[in-house]
Amino acid sequence: MSRNEIEVAKAVAALKSHWLDGAPKDMRAAFVSDPARFSRFSLSLDDLLLDWSKCLVNDETMRLLKNLSLAADVEGRRAAMFAGKPINNSENRAVLHVALRDSTSKEILVDGENVLPAVREVLDRMAAFSGGLRDGSIKGATGKPIADIVNIGIGGSDLGPVMATLALSPYHDGPRTHFVSNIDGAHIADTLKPLDPATTLVIVASKTFTTIETMTNAQTARRWVAEALGEAAVGAHFAAVSTALEKVAAFGIAPDRVFGFWDWVGGRYSIWSAIGLPLMIAVGPENFRRFLEGAHAMDVHFRDAPVEQNLAVTLGLIGYWHRAICDYGSHAVIPYEQRLARLPAYLQQLDMESNGKSVTLDGKPVSGPTGPVVWGEPGTNGQHAFFQLLHQGTDVIPVEFIAAVKGHEPHLVNQHEMLLANCLAQSEALMKGRTLAEAKAQLIAKGMDETEADRIAPHRVFSGNRPSITIIDDLLDPYALGRLVALYEHRVFVEAQLFGINAFDQWGVELGKELATELLPVVEGEKSAEGRDASTQGLVAHLLERRQA
Ligand code: F6P
Repeated sequence: MSRNEIEVAKAVAALKSHWLDGAPKDMRAAFVSDPARFSRFSLSLDDLLLDWSKCLVNDETMRLLKNLSLAADVEGRRAAMFAGKPINNSENRAVLHVALRDSTSKEILVDGENVLPAVREVLDRMAAFSGGLRDGSIKGATGKPIADIVNIGIGGSDLGPVMATLALSPYHDGPRTHFVSNIDGAHIADTLKPLDPATTLVIVASKTFTTIETMTNAQTARRWVAEALGEAAVGAHFAAVSTALEKVAAFGIAPDRVFGFWDWVGGRYSIWSAIGLPLMIAVGPENFRRFLEGAHAMDVHFRDAPVEQNLAVTLGLIGYWHRAICDYGSHAVIPYEQRLARLPAYLQQLDMESNGKSVTLDGKPVSGPTGPVVWGEPGTNGQHAFFQLLHQGTDVIPVEFIAAVKGHEPHLVNQHEMLLANCLAQSEALMKGRTLAEAKAQLIAKGMDETEADRIAPHRVFSGNRPSITIIDDLLDPYALGRLVALYEHRVFVEAQLFGINAFDQWGVELGKELATELLPVVEGEKSAEGRDASTQGLVAHLLERRQA
């Protein structure tokens, strides 16, 4: 079976009419009338729990969403991905990040070639290199062991390692890791300032090895090493990760320090490849292997579990429900884990670069909305910043709460329990809200007179019925992190198939890059801005004039 547009349109129409007339509108009442609501709208995979019972759904919603997934052939496309078919059809590429974490299969074919031997060979080389850096046997040019790693990359060549090394900091027993991404010279200058070139290794991470930010920062780092230690020392202080091995060779990095990956690994899906090298150096090959195993466990679940029991499919269906049927334009990801502070930024790229599209797989305009805006910050910090709008603002923004049963700091008496209490409190408050009568009664109970209570109470009303999803695992360890990230990857995949778009290209980043190249000589004052729009001309004139001031 393949995606059947007529059946998809019918399924979407059924969902829209169900949303208007049939889906629950009063969540308090839904919980009161159905004591089994939590167990009916939650799923587990081992210790990983997904709870969507606080969303405006009922059995009929789930049945209609399943119908849509059948009409959209989510299962067929999923099978095509796992089989290495070129489902990224605008670039004619397979999409096989799942192969990077599969230590169990013997064969996964791309264009008739088994990709697994090469995957395992690179992992082994990464392990040997990481091991040498961690035990001090791989040294810098002056004979000192490497104490600091600087990863230079951007987008998918940065966000994954940044997010995961912070998330797994309790496992960090290797050299310190630092990350430089921005073309803003402030980023590399501030990063290198406290470091000693003699004990620093720079990893240049770029799938294409052409990204201007990364190449420019790599040259800056190269000069920093060469000026301190001499040109001959550079080789001992650089490594590279890329799919473009000839370009790396031209940069001058020795082949035994180059770790490859393949065009069937999308940048935002590449943390599992050699792009994960800084993570492996930080936490060690064994913890990195557990990270891959966690992701693989989710892959197997996503591939094999029926729709009704499938966490990733369910998360995708609810994501679609919120975006395309309820018309919520964004969702917030709020990890109640300080160490997941960069997860929202990571998921922003994963989701928005994948599903921020306006044409279907065959290039026609889409008929409805596609990917939402994804944003977030850790709780409890967010509570003291933007939660006001989540509770009382005029837009409904579904929230995804992420937490762990246990923390890594049990000695810090009840701080983790306080964190969890806040997490549950926020989702309960969003769901239940507070009525005008309740608000007024509270004020009167506190001794306020009737007239004043009438005046103040409307400000203290919470509409409630604001959906949230809660995801809880036992402990944020390498396995759990791998599983969580893979859950989100597959959720994005499911949503893309429901939207009818290609999640694996990113042509939308091109135009800005082209114009930036054109504008560089203009901003440098070497070329006229004539012929450009009046705003750009005005801004260029302002920059050039103020530079002289
Ligand atoms: O911003 C576009 C993009 O191509 C991302 O998809 C990618 O992760 C990032 O740039 C970095 O690309 P590269 O790894 O090729 O330097």
